[in-house]
Amino acid sequence: MPTRPPRALFFRDAEQLLTLAGGPLPRRGRALGELGIVAGGGVLIQGGKIVAAGRTRDLAAPARRLKALPVDCRGRVVMPGFVDCHTHLIFAGSRVEDFQARIEGKTYEQIAAAGGGIARSARLLARASKPELKAQALAFLKQFAAHGTTTLEVKSGYGLDIRNEIKILEVVRELVASSPLELVPTLLAAHALPERFRARRAAYLNRVIRRLIPAAARAKLAEFVDCFCDRGAFTLEECRRVLEAGKRYGLAPRIHAEQLTHSGSCRLAARLGASSADHLDKMSGAEIRLLARSNVVAVLVPASNFNLSTRRYAPARRLIEAGAAVALATDFNPGTSPTLNMQFILALACTQMRMTPAEAIAAATVNAAYSLGRAERLGSLEPGKQADLAVMDVDDYRKIPYYFAWNHCVMTVKRGKIIYARE
Ligand code: NIG
Ligand code: FE
Repeated sequence: MPTRPPRALFFRDAEQLLTLAGGPLPRRGRALGELGIVAGGGVLIQGGKIVAAGRTRDLAAPARRLKALPVDCRGRVVMPGFVDCHTHLIFAGSRVEDFQARIEGKTYEQIAAAGGGIARSARLLARASKPELKAQALAFLKQFAAHGTTTLEVKSGYGLDIRNEIKILEVVRELVASSPLELVPTLLAAHALPERFRARRAAYLNRVIRRLIPAAARAKLAEFVDCFCDRGAFTLEECRRVLEAGKRYGLAPRIHAEQLTHSGSCRLAARLGASSADHLDKMSGAEIRLLARSNVVAVLVPASNFNLSTRRYAPARRLIEAGAAVALATDFNPGTSPTLNMQFILALACTQMRMTPAEAIAAATVNAAYSLGRAERLGSLEPGKQADLAVMDVDDYRKIPYYFAWNHCVMTVKRGKIIYARE
């Protein structure tokens, strides 16, 4: 049955409308802090797209012509929906045992070396059916929407063999059909060496390169390829091979870079023209300048630092001041970052990395959309763009991170449809 296009909606009288309009993408330096704020703002949407965004009084006449349903936004902030450009949405069970072990003094790497960590998630995932994985992910997606996120990147990475990695990507494809959110799939087969390949590293990588990447690309199950370049995961040379193979099959590289140790992965990202380099806790000053000269987006994921109790965060200020394109993401995953609340990420970005609230919001919307190759359609509220937005129950956008660890979102709209409304 053809679905009827959603009715035109008129979000009116917002205390602050954050358009994030204008400027070339990605936003760098001073431009990152420019939110295009309209006091008393309104947004008119129809057919899944934005018709106009500006002062409410200027939109009243066109809204009448479109017979748009008014949505009263007095005392509230209207902003683009969050684009969460780094998640590991598909996993089975949890890693609450690892959480307890860390509190009792073990480190992330010690837990992984003892068979916990990613290997634990891989064991759980191998036993889980597709319907089970889908049900858990759908429950999480509802929460993403309820916190104002409208698009998310989703990595595989707990399959660690051809069948299970494909299983994850097929679940993502099913979710695209059954969730209103937009999901962007990434193949992360080089996440950890599977236990049974412990003595045969090259054999695992050859399978990923010769069979999994071509199969995933042919079936259009992934848009991006990613790898975990670190001590205890994969070497720089191994990651280079995986990412270059992905590129040959049309998958754009992303990379878990400079997280636990300094590996040189940031340079690799620049050399390959990767879409993003993520984490970056241990990057050097020369690498900051290198990223600043490139179009690689520095995706910072401070919730993983927070949750692993690492005192050192990525050098956000130095990246911004050098002119790098900075984005923010949850890194939602069972091991290092079990939060899906982008509002909390803004708070961490402000308090732990000294990003301003405005910089954090731009990093979590327009720049994140750019890193996913979707900046012409997503990430700002401008005529012609997709109608993806969030209404926050605060009268000043800075109160989103200020009142931290709350959920301020009262309404979320995706492709012009209300997909979440509080009460
Ligand atoms: O982004 N660093 C590697 N990958 C994840 C953690 C995955 C896990 O521990 O399950 C991350 O932090
Ligand atoms: Fe990650």
